[in-house]
Amino acid sequence: MNLKPSFYMLMCIIVLCTSVSCKEQATIAEAQKLTISEGFENPLGFYDKTPSFSWQLPVSEGVLSQSAYQIVVASSPDLLPDNADLWNSKKQQTAQSTWVKYAGAALQSRQKVYWQVKYWDQDHESSKWSEISHFELGLLSNSDWKAKWIGLDTKREKVIGSQDNILHRPQYLRKGFELSNDVASARLYITAKGVFDVAINGEDVSDDVMPPGYTPYKVRIETITYDVTDLIESGQNTIGIEVAAGWHSGRLGWMKTYWSDTETPKVLAQLELIMKDGSREMILSDDTWKGTTNGPIRVSEIYDGETYDANLEMPNWTTNNFDDKTWESVNTFPLTNNIRLEPKRHTTVKTKIELATQEVVEKEGTAVFDLQQNMVGVPLLKVPMKKGQILKIRFAEKLSPDGTFYTENYRSAQSTNYYTASKDGVIEWMPKFTFHGFQYVELSGYDTSKTPSKDWVTGLVQYSDFEENGTFTSSHEKLNQLQSNIVWGLRGNFFDIPTDCPQRDERMGWTADAQVFAPASMFNADVYKFWASWMQSVGESQYDNGAVPWVVPDVLFNNKVSAGWGDACTIIPWKIYLRTGDKKILEENFETMKGWVKYHESVTKNYISKMGFFADWLQPLPENGDNKGDTSKSLIGTAFFAHSANLTAKTAKALGKNEEFEKYNSLYKSVAKAFENKFFKNGKVKDVAETQTSYLLALAFGLLSDENNANAKKHLLEKIAEADNHLRTGFLGTPLLSEVLDNTGEIDLMYKILFNETYPSWFYSINQGATTIWERWNSYSKKDGFNPQNMNSLNHYAYGAIGEWMYERIAGIAPLEAGYKTIRIAPVPKEPLTSAAASLNTPYGKVVSSWKIKEGKLTLDVTIPPNTTAKVIVPGVISNFNENVEMLSDKKENATFLVQPGTYQFTSKLESYEN
Ligand code: BGC
Repeated sequence: MNLKPSFYMLMCIIVLCTSVSCKEQATIAEAQKLTISEGFENPLGFYDKTPSFSWQLPVSEGVLSQSAYQIVVASSPDLLPDNADLWNSKKQQTAQSTWVKYAGAALQSRQKVYWQVKYWDQDHESSKWSEISHFELGLLSNSDWKAKWIGLDTKREKVIGSQDNILHRPQYLRKGFELSNDVASARLYITAKGVFDVAINGEDVSDDVMPPGYTPYKVRIETITYDVTDLIESGQNTIGIEVAAGWHSGRLGWMKTYWSDTETPKVLAQLELIMKDGSREMILSDDTWKGTTNGPIRVSEIYDGETYDANLEMPNWTTNNFDDKTWESVNTFPLTNNIRLEPKRHTTVKTKIELATQEVVEKEGTAVFDLQQNMVGVPLLKVPMKKGQILKIRFAEKLSPDGTFYTENYRSAQSTNYYTASKDGVIEWMPKFTFHGFQYVELSGYDTSKTPSKDWVTGLVQYSDFEENGTFTSSHEKLNQLQSNIVWGLRGNFFDIPTDCPQRDERMGWTADAQVFAPASMFNADVYKFWASWMQSVGESQYDNGAVPWVVPDVLFNNKVSAGWGDACTIIPWKIYLRTGDKKILEENFETMKGWVKYHESVTKNYISKMGFFADWLQPLPENGDNKGDTSKSLIGTAFFAHSANLTAKTAKALGKNEEFEKYNSLYKSVAKAFENKFFKNGKVKDVAETQTSYLLALAFGLLSDENNANAKKHLLEKIAEADNHLRTGFLGTPLLSEVLDNTGEIDLMYKILFNETYPSWFYSINQGATTIWERWNSYSKKDGFNPQNMNSLNHYAYGAIGEWMYERIAGIAPLEAGYKTIRIAPVPKEPLTSAAASLNTPYGKVVSSWKIKEGKLTLDVTIPPNTTAKVIVPGVISNFNENVEMLSDKKENATFLVQPGTYQFTSKLESYEN
């Protein structure tokens, strides 16, 4: 008998079975959106050698949640999934799909890492392996650098700026080098004390704007990694770098402070090449480089603008085809260990949007271009000129009623560019090392035989390269305009650091502005990395006594603090944690929080604070006429002391530090008690000015005993009624208004305040034509013109804090558990709205809440992403809902449902809308 066929049959059956069972094991779709740490996708030059991994489950029928995962990490994609040499997490029985910490072999500078993940769903079905993601580490420590800082002595020329400040002429630095072998891969590691732009063989290395960015330069400078493999040629090559003063060597702030007025801008560059034969070469910034300051950018300054002379252009200077014999040798400076060089931990600034001119008006050789949107960045100019003409480019956020440029609010920032033409014809130019906040561009000095047209000026909107992450829209035009103004405030003030304003002689990281706007920003954009990076700067800027300065990076060096400002170090990490669920932000900032609370304590007597300063900054209609408003500074200081102690306690608890939780929680309670005794009697403010903000602080921060809360609320309502149902709150009080009125059941009143059209209110500025959030409730009015104070930014995001409530309550999307693992959908529809909708990309995927009302019938559409559950609270009397949701309440009014991932519709009757 021939046994062969049956042996083959058996083999076939085994092979078939294996493949069938494999298939059975992997019928569900793979995980997607793989990211590491604070949401990086396949980063190059990454900063973190102990990253965390996150992924999302696919939105596909049948995938509700994760019961287990497995991550494999390897040094080459070929080793995945079966031979992971760096880490194999093995199958972990858990629903965790975000922020899983790497626990494999130690990673090193330059290392390339590949990883993928699979998950098991609620039925323990295994997914396919995801696609392979990767990251590559940058140079993680100073000892990785073999290059030297290089630059020319730019002080020698003694160029004096508009404020008698020393200006450093931009430098052009170059080096030619010959390679004996073909290159397989090339990385350029680079940074500057200043801002740079780099090209290799005549090609731009990147479209980054003003890298490396702004950090506390005395402590840390960020470095950038570029993959330049495709730019390197065989044989002869040239690298050219422009470097200008930027934040590092320019004046900053209205006090004209500097990081260093003695240190000239410098560059540090290390080009590392791996050749096709496996050998390695390095091209370093060193004394073989040559440089000149006789290039076309004559001066460039953040506040004052840029001056460019096309006659001095040096064609081909970044190519081999250029003779630099008249250039000087550069000076070199060794690296010092006191300034840490670390890979940038968020995204560089880029040109993100192009805005076309909407209207042009010409008058006597001057043309004004109106973009009809206040924006931040630079103009792209395509302007006809005659040889020798000097084009003058001015900016304004708004025109004065007589049509002239309103520039008083730029204060000492000249914000003016000049371009000298070297020949007749249309020039194409944009400034490189400066930026402006503007809606209008004024040109003079062009070829007046030509009629100005809209295409002469395009607005290049520049901000840190994040994606917008949520949407909000409603049936109300002005509310939508407010949302747009909030988003434009974000685009305008996330220029590498969170700035107070983008146009005048500040543009600094004012800490209160940051803390009040951070939550709204988290809804609108993917800014976790942006904030985490800035929080590192906050920690680095903290004084030894725990004081957290007014601005970060702290270029004021004045060791001054303000309650509500320094508290950014407790408030922002906590708010980020609530929205991401990532404890790393708490771990990284816990010591800073503790230091700050200690500082608070050091300026108290019997827990009552003596910390003063900006108070409820820019409160409208102050009785004392002061920008600092009427609310007692001591009351504010004590309230923030308690609040920061409370947030530090909560952080300790989240981190499992129980002893510290007890300590800070009891401190919080003691301060709250002292606060109440000192400033309140039976829920009414005593001995100091009774203001809306004093009640808001007490109620929002939980500082009163339970029996007095109701009274305090009553007095708050009285204050609001006294103000004819208008707010009387500044920077500190405003963000608390919606939270407090909502928590105390006064949503109708909050709607009233939000939809007010008269001063002071959000819609007031919209009625006056605002396309961004203004610094003051009355920065401008059609009737009275501009606010007479020149501290009058028309792009100041602080009051955009209301965006948080718009998402969380008008549309109704909020985290019930940190990071949206459980979600609350609880919209609060009120007149005059008939619809509102928001969508938000959470760490688990997209959540949608969208409601509309027609003839008293509310329809609520909800989308819940996989691996989460939601509690949906449907306003009104429920009339219809999908059968696969679980009704938790037994009443039909404001019925509550437990909802699994998927898309659902609910309908209800809303009495208030029936008439
Ligand atoms: C800034 C702010 C900041 C404030 C301090 C201003 O000049 O623009 O927004 O918070 O100073 O009071």
